[in-house]
Amino acid sequence: MISIAPRGKMLKSLALFSVLGATVNFQEGYANSYPNTAYLSFQQLFNDSYIHRGVKNGLSETLFTWLWSLALYIWFIGYLLGTFLTPLLTERYGRKISLLVANLIAVCGSSIGFVSAVCKIPELFFVSRLVASTSSGLSFGSLILFLQETTSTEYRGLMSFFSETTFILCNVLGIAFGMNAIFGDNLPVLTGIAVIPAIIATLLCIPLKETPKFLLLNRNDRSGALKSLEFYQGNKEDNDEILDEMLLEAPTNKKKEPVWRSVYTVLVTPHLRHAFFIGCAALQVIVGIWAIVYLSTDLLSTLFTEDEAQMASLIFIIANFCAGLCGMAIVERFGRRPLVLWLGSLNTLSLALYVLFDQLAAVHHQFRWGTIAAMVLNGVTYGLGLGPIAFFITSELVSQQYRSVVQSMVFAVNTAASFAFSFATLPAFDMFKSWSFIPLFIVPSCISLLFLYFKMPETKGREVHDIVDELWRKTSTNPVDFEAETMTISTSSSSLDMNHNKKSNFTNI
Ligand SMILES: *[C@@H]1O[C@H](CO)[C@@H](O)[C@H](O)[C@H]1NC(C)=O
Repeated sequence: MISIAPRGKMLKSLALFSVLGATVNFQEGYANSYPNTAYLSFQQLFNDSYIHRGVKNGLSETLFTWLWSLALYIWFIGYLLGTFLTPLLTERYGRKISLLVANLIAVCGSSIGFVSAVCKIPELFFVSRLVASTSSGLSFGSLILFLQETTSTEYRGLMSFFSETTFILCNVLGIAFGMNAIFGDNLPVLTGIAVIPAIIATLLCIPLKETPKFLLLNRNDRSGALKSLEFYQGNKEDNDEILDEMLLEAPTNKKKEPVWRSVYTVLVTPHLRHAFFIGCAALQVIVGIWAIVYLSTDLLSTLFTEDEAQMASLIFIIANFCAGLCGMAIVERFGRRPLVLWLGSLNTLSLALYVLFDQLAAVHHQFRWGTIAAMVLNGVTYGLGLGPIAFFITSELVSQQYRSVVQSMVFAVNTAASFAFSFATLPAFDMFKSWSFIPLFIVPSCISLLFLYFKMPETKGREVHDIVDELWRKTSTNPVDFEAETMTISTSSSSLDMNHNKKSNFTNI
């Protein structure tokens, strides 16, 4: 029998995690991009079903627009729900079971979508998106925890990168499949396709092992953790030392806290709160991508024909994906800090260029091509590292006990922000044209980048407990403590860790 255990083999790990990433993230990437191009077919389905039920002239344009917005934005509600479920499930049942549950929900969600298209029941389409988005919220968070905790420190960034790059790949598929030339006219096939990866992901999860960190730190199961470590990273001599190193992340108060209590603890503990802010700031920089993924065709159609605008959207998303492939080669060569700061600045600059060229196009029509170039630059900087790192940076800043809680808090804030900003984009764009990008995206990004410049620690190639210690020292307000702390660094890391834990217990009270 062929085992799927990667056992530290680079290619096998890449293969396993890319199939896992692509199938798990398929729902979100695909379901959020095919409506973009298949919009008209859905309009017809909605309309026909109402005419069928005896509504004489079908739906009015306005009513349809409202229904369609509801169908699109219902995604964020389910996604938030999934984000809230993530710490509950990942802490109690583990990362693997959470992934499995998320994928089973995804099978349900995508099947409901298929039934809605076959039987022409638009209401079921709403239900399907609600269920699918709940599964996505849960699976996205669980997958990042899973990838972060199963891979060695040296490849942690690369493997986590996968999650976002496979997500972009699914966006490419969604936009392409939604075109009329492919499955845009055939909604049962278009929606039914999503069932297949959900089933593959579910089956793939079954033989996987729970992450070593979860087994060791949450379950106190050292032999299980060792087996899991061998399963993912191979039979290395220093496996025992790796486990000892992981133990440095162990919580001091073994008492289980309810999740709402953990949220409070995060907000009142300086170094955890700090990690939360860094995560939020990193994701705030990329909020603009949603406006582009959802609305690029719309935004560009003020300057271009419908066909040109669609083509440009496709080029944008393909450039984003190709940059992601290159990004995998560079993510472990450069630090996270330079990648986020440089690419973040370029990304923000690209939005400014979009505004510039959009305005210049009024002076001379040929300048409009600059807007496409700016959009492609935006996609490239995102894919090359900014986007993927923004999504996994939080989990590198927090130790085991609070990792899933802080990550979920960051994702919840970001989901709300993405919703608010992308919802505001279209009306703001109608009123103020591209000027609206300045308050919506450019100013918030600049503020976030400044914050990151001053506060974000380098995390590449470092153990999490070490990063957490640095954050703790930086946020410690007591200068005497700070000196005592810097002195202990040179001694042993475990004594430092004890000090650190004592301190955080103290601040918890
Ligand atoms: C629905 O169909 C009717 C009849 O064909 C048409 O008059 C109406 O414009 C359509 N509504 C939408 C929103 O497409």
